[in-house]
Amino acid sequence: MELYLKKLYYRFRYFFDSKLLKMKNYFLNGNINVEDGANVNFMDIMIYDARKRNLNVQIGKDSIIHCDIVLYKHDSKVTIGDRVFIGEGTKIYCYDSVEIKDDVMISWGCTIIDTNAHSISFEERKNDVVAWKKGYQFKDWSNVKFGKIVIERNCWIGFNSIVMKGVHLDENVIVGAGSVVTKSFSKNLIVGGNPAQVVKQVE
Ligand SMILES: CC(C)(COP(=O)(O)OP(=O)(O)OC[C@H]1O[C@@H](n2cnc3c(N)ncnc32)[C@H](O)[C@@H]1OP(=O)(O)O)[C@@H](O)C(=O)NCCC(=O)NCCS
Repeated sequence: MELYLKKLYYRFRYFFDSKLLKMKNYFLNGNINVEDGANVNFMDIMIYDARKRNLNVQIGKDSIIHCDIVLYKHDSKVTIGDRVFIGEGTKIYCYDSVEIKDDVMISWGCTIIDTNAHSISFEERKNDVVAWKKGYQFKDWSNVKFGKIVIERNCWIGFNSIVMKGVHLDENVIVGAGSVVTKSFSKNLIVGGNPAQVVKQVE
């Protein structure tokens, strides 16, 4: 009985969440494209720059997506390929571009962020909170570092890991649980730790 109710609950949530996403897309006049067979559950998309609402989110075929996505500006772009899994509690914070290619698995509780979000100089970030209060579009991003993130095919990112700005993970890189990835890695490697280092080669 309990299992049955659980199943019913998840079915309802899936139905509700996909409808909600479609409604959001309609109202925000965005470009959220969800391909056939993709399950998008519990996803929330927040856009901080309200001046021009033009969401750019692509989700490929047969993917299962539970994560939340934050788009910092009107033309931030998140692209998720086919057969991608992204677990619950994972968040993608995108200022410029986050690209996740086909057959990638990203576990629960991860953070993918392509910007520092604030300047490292106090003088340059001292007005951020006041600007935020007025509306995110008032924030000055001109001194904030950012760098496109690309996670190539077949990568697997362990739970509670963090991928920072400018990282390019080449095909079939495995990131050990709880790692902080600050640099790019070439294909077929297992990396881990904080900051992530090469642990071994994938056999
Ligand atoms: C990355 C991982 C898959 C590697 O597994 P494995 O091949 O069995 O690796 P081992 O346990 O033999 O460890 C090999 C080496 O990597 C190190 N290592 C393993 N996991 C690590 C991690 N998360 N961070 C840093 N180093 C790590 C080990 O200390 C060991 O180092 P040594 O050779 O100096 O002794 C595994 O450690 C992991 O993180 N699993 C979690 C995956 C996950 O998130 N699953 C949730 C569902 S998606």
